Amino acid sequence: MRPYIVANWKMHGLMADINEVMAIDNAAAKFDHVDVGIGLPATLIHTASEQVKNSEIGAQDCHQAEQGAHTGCLSAAMLSEAGAAFSIIGHSERRADHAETSRLIAQKALTLQNASMGAILCIGEDLATRQSGAALDFVAGQLVESLALADDTSLSLERLTIAYEPIWAIGTGRVPALTDIAAMHSKLRDQLVASFGPAGDAIRILYGGSVKASNAKDILALENVNGALVGGASLKAESFAPIIAAA
Ligand code: PGA
Repeated sequence: MRPYIVANWKMHGLMADINEVMAIDNAAAKFDHVDVGIGLPATLIHTASEQVKNSEIGAQDCHQAEQGAHTGCLSAAMLSEAGAAFSIIGHSERRADHAETSRLIAQKALTLQNASMGAILCIGEDLATRQSGAALDFVAGQLVESLALADDTSLSLERLTIAYEPIWAIGTGRVPALTDIAAMHSKLRDQLVASFGPAGDAIRILYGGSVKASNAKDILALENVNGALVGGASLKAESFAPIIAAA
């Protein structure tokens, strides 16, 4: 399975930072066995996508409807036309800031599929759930709900990626024990195979949450960790390129 290393710029980046996108794209050229994605603010997607050669530009969210009266929102078709090849969906910051539910996120996954875009679906537990010992079942449940597996099997698996991001590890410098990451990814792999059969084995599962140059190699070496979703360390090529290299 080709490793997939994805930058999540969140609400960072102005036109002056396209230089940094290009520096990341240049770094990606040196590692052609790694797929590199750069999730940018919508305002940078068009300019960046016209210039990159070795990576794909993506969005960080898309609306679940194809069009309509949704002031301020962007549809998959709009993002695709601007040059986005994929979108992150269900990031915990969107679940928290915009009260997004797994049900809604399942609709977004289908909408992206209909627009022939990739979906990077984020799931992950908060600290209280981790400390209560319920994280494995909670996150597996989130996965099932976010893919609406119970009542909709029309989701194509091509270009679907899962990102496990424990909320308490995002932007905090705290990372779960390697054994805990491995246990979660193994649980999610089992769930994907239970839900989709052998095709579930081919879906990439990324880890996200305080990934940086110093821990990337150990995390990416774990079984069923097929890449990383990187926030803070992805804003500069200097800190992101070593993570691509680690893959
Ligand atoms: P972080 O963010 O790498 O800054 O922890 C990861 C994410 O939120 O995707």
